[in-house]
Amino acid sequence: MKHLPLFSGIFLLISLPSTVAISQTYARNGIVVSSSKIASEVGIDILQKGGNAVDASVATAFTLAVTHPAAGNIGGGGFLVFMNSLGITTTIDFREKAPLKASPKMFLDEGGTLTKGKNLSGKESTVNHIGAKSIGVPGTVAGLYLAHQKYGSLPWADLVQPAIDIAENGFPLTWSLLQAATRFDANSPIPFLRDYFKKDNGQLTQFEELWKQPELAKTLSEIRDHGQDGFYKGVVAAEIVSFMEKNGGIITKEDLQRYTAVERKPIKGTYKDYEIYSMPPPSSGGVALIEMMNLMELVDLDSIEFNSTAYVHLLAEVMRRAFADRAEHLGDADFSKDMSLEKLTSKVFARKRFDNIDRSIASISDSTKFGQIYDGANTTHFSVMDKNGNAVSLTFTLEQGYGSGMGSDKLGFIFNNEMGDFNPVPGATTTTGQIGTNPNLIQPEKRMLSSMTPTIVAKNGKPYLVIGSPGGRTIINTVFQTVLNVIGYDIQVDKAIEAMKIHHSWLPDKIVYEKGLLSPDTRKALEAMNHSLVSKNSLGELMGIQMDTKNKIMIGASDSSSPDGAAIGY
Ligand code: GLY
Repeated sequence: MKHLPLFSGIFLLISLPSTVAISQTYARNGIVVSSSKIASEVGIDILQKGGNAVDASVATAFTLAVTHPAAGNIGGGGFLVFMNSLGITTTIDFREKAPLKASPKMFLDEGGTLTKGKNLSGKESTVNHIGAKSIGVPGTVAGLYLAHQKYGSLPWADLVQPAIDIAENGFPLTWSLLQAATRFDANSPIPFLRDYFKKDNGQLTQFEELWKQPELAKTLSEIRDHGQDGFYKGVVAAEIVSFMEKNGGIITKEDLQRYTAVERKPIKGTYKDYEIYSMPPPSSGGVALIEMMNLMELVDLDSIEFNSTAYVHLLAEVMRRAFADRAEHLGDADFSKDMSLEKLTSKVFARKRFDNIDRSIASISDSTKFGQIYDGANTTHFSVMDKNGNAVSLTFTLEQGYGSGMGSDKLGFIFNNEMGDFNPVPGATTTTGQIGTNPNLIQPEKRMLSSMTPTIVAKNGKPYLVIGSPGGRTIINTVFQTVLNVIGYDIQVDKAIEAMKIHHSWLPDKIVYEKGLLSPDTRKALEAMNHSLVSKNSLGELMGIQMDTKNKIMIGASDSSSPDGAAIGY
């Protein structure tokens, strides 16, 4: 996010307008920071009952499926990074998969064109994000179940029950949910979504009225009672398959039965004395983050004025290179023998990449070689630290806000539209955001490339910073800048989150900056260096926890861009 860090020499003064609604907390025993206050409270309750960070994460994630349905979900997928108090780190990949019947050209018409249609809000969108074919095999329930089986300590049922209670008894509809409810009621071509926020009497739930989700409560009860099988087998799976058959989807019983979450070795890098752990492919986030931090390690930060022309130019050039490499190399590593992960995250490669940055002029993004995928900006991240210093960084998504907008009345949850994260037109790369490179073409059972960057930084071998964000491709850059702010510039996590950010993703070849960040003079200077600039109200909704190692106090902060977000500690 967003607020103007005024620079003076190497000292940063962060000026925050009085309207800022950052949620911030200091605590000794545990913190949960999520995009829903209710979900953060549920997580804290689990910690207070003796649960560990993984237990709290499972309960928080299921609650987000009830209270933050734009992105919290059981119909989508995501990634979890877990570092225990000794610094041992692992990850769980529960990214959605392409169904067995999927194929590289499944979204093209007979002439090979990616046509358009109306999306969940009635707006024009390419077909790879629309309808039941855009739904990937969901991974969230399998991922949370695997995390709990391996690293949880409280009974599974106790972690699902809070979400069931909230779905059954309702919770007061927030202003931000009301915005979505009103929008869908007026514009959505999808009946499920139009009715999603309605009461039994057919009226839209109003601000602060209790919004109840009895069908979702029933689905969650199956998951409570049968674990992973409660979703991928039995009555829920049967209804998913029946829904797909009625609505032109291609997910089958076999797809659901074959889905597994995978434990993977994290991507690891270093920045000075810090160790950085993040998500490996099928996310591109970890690799790009480590590459960018390696490049920035070659810079004396004291010599470059924060948010100056030189600083913005350098960051944009660093981002441009990491995103070009992402487009060339990354996809689901289970389907590619060599993704050059070691090379991309090595210090030697960073040196080469750094040495071809011209400090006086923008490079050219070569669209004839590699382009960029489009991915949705509506995802959600939460961070957890428990009293023993175990930490979880979890990002999950339905792809775009409210995913495909489709769901079964009998199940009460929304399916993702994550198939839109694959490269839709083999071989076709454009300057506006479409990519056709091989590593991320659609194949049966492949996971689509993601930008989610759940990250944990260790200091002296122990969790120090837990961070992540939603925001599609901007995730990688907002996490990168927040990590750099904390461990490069020594800015406390709350201010690091609020400090304004930029985004460059190689293609489109533009610097996106948060409105108010760049002075007219800086903008002119950057344009004179051949950069094109575009402003945005806000980038990222970061949720972070930092350990004050000296005083053994955790500091939690939820980005002021998150309308319902909260950092809760005890
Ligand atoms: N769907 C957004 C992402 O995975 O990056």
